[in-house]
Amino acid sequence: MMKTDENLKKVWLENYKVVPKALKKLKGKKTAAAAFNANIDAVLKIKPVKFLRLLKQEEMCLKDLQSIKELKLKSGKDVLRGVFKSFSQGIAEEWISEDIAVYDWMVENLGYDRLQIGGQGGIVANALAVLGLKKVYAHCNSLPKMQAEQFVKLKNLVSFDAKGKEKPAYKINRKADVPLIHWIIEFNKGDVWEIEGQRFVCPKANRFIATYDPLNLNLVRDEAFVQKVSKAKTDCIVVSGYHALTASAGGEKLIKESLPMIKEWAKSEAMLHVELASTQDLKIRKAIFEKVAPLAASIGCNERETIDFLEIISEKKLAKLCQDKTTAGNMLQAILALKEKIKVPRVQLHMFGLYITVQDKDFTISPKDSRKGMMLAATVSASKAGLGDIDKYKNLMWAKGKEVSDVGLKELEDLAKLVKDKSLLETGLFEYQGFDVIAVPTILIEKPKTLVGMGDTISSVSLIGSM
Ligand code: GLC
Repeated sequence: MMKTDENLKKVWLENYKVVPKALKKLKGKKTAAAAFNANIDAVLKIKPVKFLRLLKQEEMCLKDLQSIKELKLKSGKDVLRGVFKSFSQGIAEEWISEDIAVYDWMVENLGYDRLQIGGQGGIVANALAVLGLKKVYAHCNSLPKMQAEQFVKLKNLVSFDAKGKEKPAYKINRKADVPLIHWIIEFNKGDVWEIEGQRFVCPKANRFIATYDPLNLNLVRDEAFVQKVSKAKTDCIVVSGYHALTASAGGEKLIKESLPMIKEWAKSEAMLHVELASTQDLKIRKAIFEKVAPLAASIGCNERETIDFLEIISEKKLAKLCQDKTTAGNMLQAILALKEKIKVPRVQLHMFGLYITVQDKDFTISPKDSRKGMMLAATVSASKAGLGDIDKYKNLMWAKGKEVSDVGLKELEDLAKLVKDKSLLETGLFEYQGFDVIAVPTILIEKPKTLVGMGDTISSVSLIGSM
């Protein structure tokens, strides 16, 4: 490695020294709300023997397994098709079922290794509560004991019981509610399955999500939460969950119906952040971008989501460029294009190794404070990757003192070349096309124990950490 990189790593270690103080500052301060989707994630690794047994049970041959008509779950057979596609092609996908028979099939045949909180809303609520905020409101349209138990056992994380009374979420048991379970089926790179004499090797660590969730897929709201958050004067409201809607099930109408509430939140003192999330349905993607995102003060996305959203604003050329060369320079152009289209004051991209925030010059958070929040987020998410969970306060700083990654510094160099300003290599701060840009190289963990919900954690922690 070049000496300059070693020096830069030292510079960033210095920059990162503000992180513990940034965390401490949050303790007992700030309130936040996380909406909409919280669910139970049932995480499992399927062993080859089990998969083969299920194939036999469903009387499926390899050809059957590979013939995919729709990215949807209409039977147990489709579950096996999706699992096999993700496994053999290394693509992370989420397929949805609207049929309870498929849910029953999954309960009976899949099982799970562990349960954890899932959904953007649920994951954000847990992460922010562990940071020690004064209060975090979690939106739950279903909260039986099985789901409540997945929330961290902290009093600052609250939700609403069947009578609409505010209580610590982990203590609630809405007995009549159905558990909303998403199966997260994980694969490791290099896993081998042999089917009909053919060898299939998993090319990339990833997961397949099989979802039955009639409430979140219909954007069912908990009125007690909606009422409370409109009055509660929170510092920030993180909204996600629209990505799971489909046009065929009336998703556009559901979005439209939710807008008065989002507008009310946008008008309040709270900073409204919308996490775009991976949205398969094109009509829904368009509606999120045109109707919901422009109401936000801040939006968050990863590389894939950014490219997907570029496609719907007719930036096909730029989308293709970013797809072929996913560099920081190209991705900066991409988020600027998104920002320009909807005039949102702040956009944050979390890409592999680097986070980039573009914000208006008069944005309420200074570039230096934004950078502080982003470094806190990088440390917390590296701790999550390293430990598999950040359910305890003491886990949050596990990654403290680790150097930033080579990948991140390389991407930062790409930005320095684009804007012809070497000083940003050390500061991560610069101006571009009239906006403040903050770029932070992150800490990467060699063998992450988990990746689910990483983007949600990064976006919410970096926002609250910069306030
Ligand atoms: C999707 C999945 C959910 C998972 C989340 C992670 O919302 O439905 O199960 O926890 O993504 O970001």
